[in-house]
Amino acid sequence: VLKNFTLFIEKDYNEMSQRAANIFASAVSKNPSGAYGFATGSTPIGMYEELVKMQNKSFDLTKITAFNLDEYYPINQHDPQSYFFFMKKYLFDPVGLPISSTNIPSGAANDPVAECVNYDKKIEAAGGLCMQILGIGANGHIGFNEPASELFASTHCVPLSESTITANARNFASQEDVPRSAITMGMHSIMMAKQILLLASGDGKAEIMKKAIYGPITTEVPASLLQLHHNVTVVTDAAAGKLL
Ligand code: F6R
Repeated sequence: VLKNFTLFIEKDYNEMSQRAANIFASAVSKNPSGAYGFATGSTPIGMYEELVKMQNKSFDLTKITAFNLDEYYPINQHDPQSYFFFMKKYLFDPVGLPISSTNIPSGAANDPVAECVNYDKKIEAAGGLCMQILGIGANGHIGFNEPASELFASTHCVPLSESTITANARNFASQEDVPRSAITMGMHSIMMAKQILLLASGDGKAEIMKKAIYGPITTEVPASLLQLHHNVTVVTDAAAGKLL
């Protein structure tokens, strides 16, 4: 493994989640009022549940500023499929983080381009991210930075790839209901975080994790660009880590 990577391959999803929660909690203990980047999806749910259990006992998650990677576009905040709803449900409300301390690109912005520009300004104004939590798509996407011949540096609007629409349809009534676009932090916005915490769970992520960490750095595997980051911690379960 590259020197800038720390790799933890845990037995199962629970242990992956506990390890990730401990790493995150120790970062927050060192910088309780810092800005932290969050991801949605199935992978970090267990980690968020652990953090909720740890809150108050060993550390305080109520002073941080939160920035999320992405949001569907268009979507209403109150839609149970929105990433805003997800974060409120799994983390913000249970730990008592005021919504005024949280930032998620607005899926209801009238001017999505202005929303994107403004989002990067807010991250900068918060002093940048101490840590960015990431999941990975089976196609290698991070955030909604999808495999392509070009990637974008800044927060931007992006059409979702067919594979992402199919993968995410499980959370919607039908595939037709999946929004066709998203707003996502770009590669620069992600790479500027002082530390990256990348999580992966399950067989379906084994191949892509190998490509991301050991394969060539290519825009066709957006997560492979993390090889250029100076401080990446990878936490997987045994299934996702079996080729690492
Ligand atoms: C979520 C996000 C996505 C997911 C990825 C993996 O905010 O940005 O990149 O991290 O699609 O999703 P799961 O964890 O559901 O396999």
